[in-house]
Amino acid sequence: VTTVLFCRDPLNPREVDEHLRPEAAAVRAAGGTVALLDHDALLRGDAVRVRADGPAWYRGWMIPTDRYAELAAAVELVVPPDAYARAHELPGWYPTFADLTPPSVWLPAAPGGPPAAAQLGAAAAALGHGPMIVKDYVKSRKHEWDEACFVPDPTALPRVVTRFVELQDEFLAGGIVVRAYERFEPGEARVWWLDGEPILTGPHPDTPASDPRPPLDEVAARVGRLGCRFVTTDLARRGDGVWRVVEVGDGQVSDRPRTVDPSAVVARLVQALA
Ligand SMILES: Nc1ncnc2c1ncn2[C@@H]1O[C@H](COP(=O)(O)OP(=O)(O)OP(=O)(O)O)[C@@H](O)[C@H]1O
Ligand SMILES: [Mg+2]
Repeated sequence: VTTVLFCRDPLNPREVDEHLRPEAAAVRAAGGTVALLDHDALLRGDAVRVRADGPAWYRGWMIPTDRYAELAAAVELVVPPDAYARAHELPGWYPTFADLTPPSVWLPAAPGGPPAAAQLGAAAAALGHGPMIVKDYVKSRKHEWDEACFVPDPTALPRVVTRFVELQDEFLAGGIVVRAYERFEPGEARVWWLDGEPILTGPHPDTPASDPRPPLDEVAARVGRLGCRFVTTDLARRGDGVWRVVEVGDGQVSDRPRTVDPSAVVARLVQALA
């Protein structure tokens, strides 16, 4: 039987985290088994104690790639650590999606250590002289847009990166990514892919009521090439009408907006291993 490993509820360790509970119920209804992970302990670096028979999918909060490798050493996961990292971190998926996504450069960086201004400037020169956005290999600080995300012109890059690194603090993942800014219409689509097939097109969690219908042929070809079994692609329509890939993610850690049927994705995960 298929196991899906969920984050446990920190307040109620025998239960699945409240946010994920509808999906756990859907796993059981589809004939799968639910196992529990102490996500806090994993991120602290404590020994992993998980019981699962047979390979497990994971559904839950994001896990840094090094911690994911530790998890994979302790329990048999369907998605190996290299595939997880390739989908989860921009430098992993970018080469496969390069012409469908805003041009991007990156520099490794550790918490508290922003790259030098000269190094940043040299890397970002490849993006031209227009506006840019800053994030790390995984996440942006889009809620601090003016301070730590949007770069109106190249002279502002060191200021925004410095503030971004300060705010990310110990959670800085991998390094700094700088992307050319493109003007998108509101309402991203989040497309969920399993074994190369689009199993669900729904809204991004930020715009749960929207119902975008992007064309998928070109994206499907790239997802196939990426070679990861379970991923999401977030797509936005640019001002000129062209659909763009804003980001790719590992499906195991992509958030599901409450407007999306909890069984739509996890029932397919259960069937895929049955
Ligand atoms: N190159 C870009 N040009 C214009 N806007 C962008 C660009 N990259 C990101 N954005 C905007 O910033 C938002 C956040 O970016 P992104 O999705 O890369 O970061 P995130 O923190 O991983 O977000 P989430 O995980 O919530 O989707 C996007 O939804 C989009 O609105
Ligand atoms: Mg996003």
